[in-house]
Amino acid sequence: MSGPNTSYDPVEVSALDPAAIDEAVSAALTAIAAAGSLGELKAVRTEHAGDKSALALANREIGALPPTAKAEAGKRVGQARGRVGQALKERQAELEDERDQRILIDEAVDMSLVPRRAPMGHRHPIELMGTRIADIMVGMGWEIAEGPEIEAEWFNFDALNFDIDHPARQMQDTFYVDPPSAGLVLRTHTSPVQARAMLERGAPLYVGCIGRVFRTDELDATHMPAFHQVEGLAVDEGITMANLKGTLDRLASELFGEGITTRLRPSYFPFTEPSAEMDLRCFVCRGTDPDCRACSGTGWIEWGGCGMVNQNVLRACGIDTDRFSGFAFGMGVDRALMFRTGVADMREMIEGDVRFDAQFGLEI
Ligand code: PHE
Repeated sequence: MSGPNTSYDPVEVSALDPAAIDEAVSAALTAIAAAGSLGELKAVRTEHAGDKSALALANREIGALPPTAKAEAGKRVGQARGRVGQALKERQAELEDERDQRILIDEAVDMSLVPRRAPMGHRHPIELMGTRIADIMVGMGWEIAEGPEIEAEWFNFDALNFDIDHPARQMQDTFYVDPPSAGLVLRTHTSPVQARAMLERGAPLYVGCIGRVFRTDELDATHMPAFHQVEGLAVDEGITMANLKGTLDRLASELFGEGITTRLRPSYFPFTEPSAEMDLRCFVCRGTDPDCRACSGTGWIEWGGCGMVNQNVLRACGIDTDRFSGFAFGMGVDRALMFRTGVADMREMIEGDVRFDAQFGLEI
């Protein structure tokens, strides 16, 4: 507020000149309209409506006027300040509105966007294949057994009728576990579980085993040093090759589709007699396409070995061979997965690339 009007200064009073006030108002209104942001408007407010603005100065000068002039000057300055104040208020509201609109757009959250979820873990396709095979066997009334991956040489070879010098021992390309005196190997097939199951459970017996086996094979498109087999063993009264063939056909059609059967070709395993290789009816052409790539036009695809359990094995495992006979089979689970899915290179199955696994569905 101004003090008593002791020294009357006409220069200061000129601030109350109507033209000067109009000019101050129009300068203020122009600046207000031109303010493009709340920050700019703040500066405009200080300049045109702040303590040091022309209008504030004029307001202070009113006190210096003679009483007769005060009312008119007061009204004029008051109206001028009112107009500027109103314009500031409106522009402030406009700019705030603009800012709010901008924030709504800039900071918009698209609620419809599919969230990027952390991928869920799931079982490996080979494991799923094994479970599928186990389910089929359980569906036939069989039990599922397990054996150790580090196996006693005795179970892996001796109990299965491999002579100590039998060429088949070398034929198996075995990983021996140190020290050699421990008599331990990484099992070369799931057949030792046959011996374990017969010793543990006795006959009659219908048992399957799905598991990992090891051979000193180089890794290539069709070989892996660690792979998976499914073993089947049935020991009961009156078991014949016909039961073996029927069981294999059932497994094949459950896994690869109705009408897929198996074929037996004479072969040799120390633990079965007679022994056979089993081929699978080609699940692509079913034997009708001489140019079929899956079976090279032969109509058959090799799947594994089988036969009637050798009497020596039954005896070594305490089974009464006068009463019981049995059949056994063993085939590749990884190969079955290749057949079912058309995967041409086994290495893809073990590289651990989830994009490969994901193709087979994410079962948990
Ligand atoms: N164990 C044999 C192999 O790995 C397969 C087989 C199993 C053969 C059962 C006959 C009976 O080659």
